[in-house]
Amino acid sequence: MIGRLNHVAIVVPDLAAAAANYRETLGAKVSAPQDLPEHGVTVVFVELPNTKIELLHPLGEGSTIAPFLAKNPSGGMHHVCYEVDDIISARDKLKASGKRVLGDGEPKIGAHGKPVLFLHPKDFAGTLVEIEQV
Ligand code: CO
Repeated sequence: MIGRLNHVAIVVPDLAAAAANYRETLGAKVSAPQDLPEHGVTVVFVELPNTKIELLHPLGEGSTIAPFLAKNPSGGMHHVCYEVDDIISARDKLKASGKRVLGDGEPKIGAHGKPVLFLHPKDFAGTLVEIEQV
C-alpha cells in the first residue's frame, strides 16, 4: 500500500543552525526557510537524492509542534511520511485494521499542497506516521 518515503520531519530549536548543519557539515541541498502559517511551522526542505528531510520550527501561537519542542528541547524526529496512491482507500484499510487516524479522519491539505492524514504513534512503534497522496 505505501510507496516511497516522502520525507522525515525533524523539529529543531534553531532553524538557521540546523539548516547550516545540513548545508555546510553534511553538504546537502537546503532551501530557504518558508513560513507555513496554516500549519504553524517554518520549514526548511533538505533535498536528498532519494527523499527529503524537513526541518520544522514552531511558528505563531498554538503551533502544534511547540509542545514537542518543550518536551524535547534539543529537537528530535517528529514524523515520517509515506506516499500512497489513494488516501481514502489507504485510510479505510488502516481503519479496518484497527489503526487510529488522528483528527476527524478527513484528509487535510499538507505542507506540499497534497492531501495528508496522520496515524497514531501508538499503532506504529511510537512513531507518528503521515501518509500523503501523491
Ligand atoms: Co510531514
